[in-house]
Amino acid sequence: MSAISCHNIIKRYGDTQVVHPFDLDVADNEFVVFLGPSGCGKSTILRMLAGLEDISGGDLLIGGQRVNDLPPQERGIAMVFQNYALYPHMSVRDNIAFGLKRLKVPKPEIDLRIKEVSDTLGLERYLQRKPTELSGGQQQRVAIARAMIKTPKVFLFDEPLSNLDAKLRNHMRIEIAKLHQSLKTTTVYVTHDQHEAMTLADRIVLLRDGRIEQVGSPREIYERPCSAFVAGFIGTPPMNLVEMSVRDVGGHFELAGAGGTVHVDARRFALAGRERVTLGVRPAHLRVDTEGGRGGGFFGEMQLIEYLGNEVLVSFGPGQDKEVDEIAALMPSAQCPRVRDRVGFVADPAQVHLFDIDTGASLLRSDAALH
Ligand SMILES: Nc1ncnc2c1ncn2[C@@H]1O[C@H](COP(=O)(O)OP(=O)(O)O)[C@@H](O)[C@H]1O
Ligand SMILES: [Mg+2]
Repeated sequence: MSAISCHNIIKRYGDTQVVHPFDLDVADNEFVVFLGPSGCGKSTILRMLAGLEDISGGDLLIGGQRVNDLPPQERGIAMVFQNYALYPHMSVRDNIAFGLKRLKVPKPEIDLRIKEVSDTLGLERYLQRKPTELSGGQQQRVAIARAMIKTPKVFLFDEPLSNLDAKLRNHMRIEIAKLHQSLKTTTVYVTHDQHEAMTLADRIVLLRDGRIEQVGSPREIYERPCSAFVAGFIGTPPMNLVEMSVRDVGGHFELAGAGGTVHVDARRFALAGRERVTLGVRPAHLRVDTEGGRGGGFFGEMQLIEYLGNEVLVSFGPGQDKEVDEIAALMPSAQCPRVRDRVGFVADPAQVHLFDIDTGASLLRSDAALH
């Protein structure tokens, strides 16, 4: 049993509160990712779980036991950091064995564990080398091996891939996913990279200014962002977020702004009495208008075309009028217009999001069907 329960956990540095009451249950074997911009409190919470930071208030339970006051080595956790800080003068084998030697584990058992761990991580061939004779990805694998060898109940990762180049990051991300599939150890993984979060997590905890903004599966967070902040944070290219005026035309609402109009179903959104909203629509959910504007849509002059291969990311808008937002859309490269062409795009009404203009809270009704 190695579930983690956080009840109203807070963190203060002097008079400054950096983590506000934090409530979260991580199930046994679950892979949870803390995601959010730099400074939102991800590392602070992780370090409280690890026992490297005092908890200013609330209760932390690991495997049903309250561990607030237990030192790190008694919590059954192992942590992997961005700066993996291997001992440069020691061989890979000694780096991996270090923690167990310190615990006076008998040598035959250490040898056996090293064999298991280095097999799992593909490090058998490197055990005699020094860390400087390894690539960045191999060094990070040694850091993971060093954590794994303690057979922890819980793995904590703090941006473990941030120091690697893009290609290695992809590779190591897949390795970490496979490792979790085979070991199933309860894992909390911190990152500011939404791609890592989306691909690794069973559930994402999206943090903002020391508070949970939303918790959900990657799919829930992508499809039903609870706020404009989440909507703008998740998804590449980012969602278009534009201010629109609202007009009730009976049975549906007509939204107008940013050089276009959208009709939305009155049953999906809580719009009664609102004059303005923030509309969110992902570039992938806009398609080229083929009805001469009769079904509504966004119209303007092509401003920028970014070639992505199979697709292009285009930005269009009214040109001179800088007050009006440009809109981004993804479209097949084969249909790509030219800069300065007049273009029109229609938003898929089942894929639009609406948010309160001031608070950013989603206006989607809780009973509205998932698209
Ligand atoms: N030792 C400290 N003293 C005071 N403030 C700190 C300390 N460590 C972190 N903070 C503040 O706590 C907030 C959260 O930091 P952190 O958890 O490191 O963010 P993240 O990991 O999400 O980038 C930040 O505003 C940071 O400045
Ligand atoms: Mg951090």
